[in-house]
Amino acid sequence: MKEAIEQIYKELQDLKTATLKEAEEARVRFLGKKGEVTALMEQFRTVAPELKREYGQKLNDLKKFTLAKIEELKDAAEAASGPASASGEDLSMPGDSMPLGSRHPVSIVRQQIVDIFRKFGYDVAEGPEIEDDYHVFEALNFPPNHPAREMQDTFFVSTGHLNPLLLRTHTSSVQVRTMETQPLPIRVVCPGRVFRNEAISARAHCIFHQVEGLYIDKNVTFADLKQAILLFAREMFGPDTQIRMRPSYFPFTEPSAEVDVSCNICKGKGCNICKGTGWLEIMGCGMVDPNVLKASGIDPEVYSGFAFGMGVERIAMLKWQVNDLRHYFENDMRFLSEFSTATEV
Ligand code: DAH
Repeated sequence: MKEAIEQIYKELQDLKTATLKEAEEARVRFLGKKGEVTALMEQFRTVAPELKREYGQKLNDLKKFTLAKIEELKDAAEAASGPASASGEDLSMPGDSMPLGSRHPVSIVRQQIVDIFRKFGYDVAEGPEIEDDYHVFEALNFPPNHPAREMQDTFFVSTGHLNPLLLRTHTSSVQVRTMETQPLPIRVVCPGRVFRNEAISARAHCIFHQVEGLYIDKNVTFADLKQAILLFAREMFGPDTQIRMRPSYFPFTEPSAEVDVSCNICKGKGCNICKGTGWLEIMGCGMVDPNVLKASGIDPEVYSGFAFGMGVERIAMLKWQVNDLRHYFENDMRFLSEFSTATEV
């Protein structure tokens, strides 16, 4: 029995446990029902009477030592797993993290467009979303029976009188308001929301965003327009970007053009984003029609100007290769969080 007791002392001295669970296993091994110390206590019955006193003492000491050792191991394991507060809460537990929000991709791109033109010396102008027919159509030289005035394109707020209220279908209306109120020369960009009565699909939505641009001064030419757009395109899509202009028609500009940029995905070779053409359409533009200048009291014999208008979602789709416009309106966190770090111009 003497050897058995010494053996257990030795084992206890060398015993190390890493976790509370292991410390508990050690307790069972030595002090459990079938534990090694328990077994010795049971053998005590068979000890010769003259030795009972000596071994009784030895076994009691061993039990005390074992208990103290297990206690010590449990304390150490608890300390390693973090401090517990007086009320039993684990103060070392990490807190609930609060994910930081981020700006909407449409806001990011609108701001990038505006910032680029600000660098070129443009101011920012805004106007009402509920507009009248005069500012959206008439002052912009839309003939009275132009199809864009018809119900299928425009959301009317009030009809039945000469100048009905409607949701603006483009931010060109802000051009008119700027020409009416600002002194010349004028150099503005007009970001804003626009509304069209369109069926929602991957390529169209009834609400979207535009940035309109307007520059009016003496001797403004088409070459100035082309240079402004080229500089913008290179800031937006990269320094190697090329532009091309195709003749087009808008009631408020003459001549008018549509602008394409070289596809920044295939570098002009042709891919499915540019449908094999190597070019992506980004905006409409032109020289402000003399009728539009006249309507706002500007003498077209003295002043000339250019205007352009682009869809923010379209620029964002091209920049980030998003192929479905609806993503921008559904506020799905999985989509929005993709843009949490996309703040660079
Ligand atoms: N307002 C046009 C649209 O919504 C875009 C546009 C085209 C604006 C040519 C312009 C321009 O200023 O010159 O489709």
